[in-house]
Amino acid sequence: MTDSAPSLELTNLEPTAADMTAQVARGLSNSQKTMPSAFFYDEPGSALFDEICRVPEYYPTRTELAIMAASLPEMAAAIGPEALVIEYGSGTGLKTRGLLSALERPVGYVPVEISREFLMTSAEALQAEFGDLEVLPVCADFTEPFEVPKPSKPAQRRALYFPGSTIGNFRPEFATKLLRQMRDEVGSGGCALIGVDLVKVTQTLEAAYNDAQGVTAKFNLNMLRRANAELGADFDLDAFRHRAVWVQERSAIEMRLYARRPTAVNLGGKRFTFLEGEWIHTEDSHKYTLEAFASLAQQAGFDVDRVWTDDDKLFSVQYLLAR
Ligand code: AVJ
Repeated sequence: MTDSAPSLELTNLEPTAADMTAQVARGLSNSQKTMPSAFFYDEPGSALFDEICRVPEYYPTRTELAIMAASLPEMAAAIGPEALVIEYGSGTGLKTRGLLSALERPVGYVPVEISREFLMTSAEALQAEFGDLEVLPVCADFTEPFEVPKPSKPAQRRALYFPGSTIGNFRPEFATKLLRQMRDEVGSGGCALIGVDLVKVTQTLEAAYNDAQGVTAKFNLNMLRRANAELGADFDLDAFRHRAVWVQERSAIEMRLYARRPTAVNLGGKRFTFLEGEWIHTEDSHKYTLEAFASLAQQAGFDVDRVWTDDDKLFSVQYLLAR
């Protein structure tokens, strides 16, 4: 892995292993044990996520891509010329490329991503592909406010891009807070383009997170392997099994790792014990109705201006205007 290319000016707020150990230990100290979902995305975890996107049951990625492909010109027209695009998460994928290509003379692209390696790899690739675009990577946890770097050419407008229904990983109260932070980062008159997964029948939802090939199971268990490798934990990987459950009251899929038998783990000088059947809650994937998301956006200082969906109303891409 090479360091940053000289042409890219990096803003570096990457967390240390000690920060992560403390965060993971805190989650395991709760009566309902949790682990942070951001911890999924090391290199093997990201490769597994890419694989999830190709299993037949996991509809969100291909549906969002199809929505984008069908309506990119409209989306680009709504955002307008000479925009500064800020993306939460590193935009390696087709979605970012599609958006940047469709936009009229964007002045800059600011990917905000916690893993410095991914950030720099994808930022460099995009810079090589979009020669005229000023790429300004920020290595940070996007759930904390950060300073948006200024492009050398002034932007007509700031546009926040947040694809993949990552907004669903946060509790609604926190999602509101995050949307408000986005609203402050784009300023009055700015905009946001956000991928939001929609509520649908339980069977479709649970199948998407319990695929028959077991890729999601590997993805979930990878978190324990990573804690062992990077944080000096000693999880017995065999002692846990993956299961995702739709929790109607919370309108969320919960990713869980169940202890098959009594087990224990040592991490950061502490010991955490598990009863048989106890689980670690590793991720929430909240699903919204169009009404529920509109009210969330409202509370954060955004108005939903346009919504694009697929014919089956599985997924939505929403264009929000900052009041
Ligand atoms: C990338 C966070 C949107 O919640 O659907 C996929 C992650 N977890 N399968 C999602 C995920 C299990 C995904 N997000």
